[in-house]
Amino acid sequence: MTNLTQTPLWQELLRHREGLEASSLRDLVLADPQRLESFEITCAGLRLNFALNFVTPKTIELLAKLAMQQKLDDERARMFHGEKINVSENRAALHTALRQKSGQPVLVDGHDVMPDIRAVRRRMVELARDVREGRWLGATGKPIRHIVNIGIGGSDLGPRLAVKALTPFAKGPALHFVANADAFELLSVIEHLDPAETMFLVVSKTFTTQETLLNAQTARRWLTDKLGDPAVAKHFIGVTGNRKEAEKFGLNPDHLFPVWDWIGGRYSLWSAVGLSIMLAIGAEHFESMCDGAAAMDEHFRTAPFERNMPALLGLLGIWNRDFLKMSALAILPYAERLRDLPRYLQQLEMESNGKTVMRYGSPVGTATAPIIFGECGSVGQHSFHQWLHQGSDTVPADFIGIVEDDLHRPGHHRALAANMVAQACALALGRQAASSPHDIYPGGRPANLLLLDRLDPFHFGLLIALYEHKVFTQGAIWNLNSFDQPGVELGKQLARALEAGKPAADKEGLFLERLFQKALTSSKK
Ligand code: F6P
Repeated sequence: MTNLTQTPLWQELLRHREGLEASSLRDLVLADPQRLESFEITCAGLRLNFALNFVTPKTIELLAKLAMQQKLDDERARMFHGEKINVSENRAALHTALRQKSGQPVLVDGHDVMPDIRAVRRRMVELARDVREGRWLGATGKPIRHIVNIGIGGSDLGPRLAVKALTPFAKGPALHFVANADAFELLSVIEHLDPAETMFLVVSKTFTTQETLLNAQTARRWLTDKLGDPAVAKHFIGVTGNRKEAEKFGLNPDHLFPVWDWIGGRYSLWSAVGLSIMLAIGAEHFESMCDGAAAMDEHFRTAPFERNMPALLGLLGIWNRDFLKMSALAILPYAERLRDLPRYLQQLEMESNGKTVMRYGSPVGTATAPIIFGECGSVGQHSFHQWLHQGSDTVPADFIGIVEDDLHRPGHHRALAANMVAQACALALGRQAASSPHDIYPGGRPANLLLLDRLDPFHFGLLIALYEHKVFTQGAIWNLNSFDQPGVELGKQLARALEAGKPAADKEGLFLERLFQKALTSSKK
């Protein structure tokens, strides 16, 4: 395959960027009074305004051509049709099927997965209804009032984000999330709980993840110490693609929900991995979240690339990363309920596209996923925004705002909106006139504004699917497999060897072992 950077279109984009060097972002933004309206796309209650990017209509035209050149449309069709686009693991990536309502079959190896999806969804609905209505009784006959989701990565971050984001819709039991191998997280959750009223969801696609199994074992001991072994059946639910290991662990086979191999962990919140979400907000709101995602799927499938929100968000990211050489992206939700969005997107973007090798093993030749970091807007303004405004790196930001004031606190709401807009403009436009060099704001930091009409399950689904397809777009253009994560394995292997007392019998193994001993020995000894 031709190296992407050698293609005439890539070269044209480079020349186009050079041509823009004489202008500042401020010049581009302020020159065109129509820019605010023309650089905006709307999809079902979510607006992307990209006027504060260092682009002209010509840039957008060239980037859309790049998407065509890299066959984003074919790759997109392959994903929606269940082809095995995760080539290294020989798997489909069918999170879109989990929210599809069209009644059309979706085939994996000739098997229609839609009836399976509907059957599991029905079981989730039954369980959620029984627990939420107090009909599911624990070992001592008490209803469940607390649910602890034990999982990590994709088995934690999406559900954790969703449950927090949709707090006003949660009328069910209280949800808690535990991911860290540091026992502090689990212990500080369970110390306030009564085992007789607590249910654990052990969520692990592979059921081999060390952190999850450690936490699940400790949780089980805590439960059985108080209620005896038979209580496990009533108080533990498993969500996994590895029934055998889950049963070995002692989970009741009737209380296991599947995670199919055609769902990537970080794309799995729409599956039974999202059981905690359904337990918190109920089945109707869960469906509405899926409907929001389906609306974004439809837009992504059908809108021309110039007006296609996820495709454009991905292309603007590539423009910033590869042509303007910006190595990070700040995620700044101006909504406390989206506090976990930066962490969620760290996994989604960096685990999917943090790669330098293309699908079939050749080096990629371009910069790929940027560093994703962020914090709730207004809070971050008082910590790292100094660096954003005047630091030596130029970093773009996604600002995420909610238009409706659902708390009816106009004082807070206007302050939040004003700060969001002020930060985006200060970063992009800067300010040159100053009596001291310390007061110069260079500007030139691009920004996207993502405005949700409301933060409800539907709009939340729209937002998450937007980012999923943005990441997909970038992977397609860089020619990466966005659905595997081989880079996480080496660290796991080394840790296993150290714990088992079997580091390699060579210089490296010795070095590791000595470092391990330091980590376990007080400096005072
Ligand atoms: O180690 C990385 C990873 O495999 C992620 O891709 C995944 O989301 C996470 O671990 C948890 O995996 P599992 O659901 O199999 O426990």
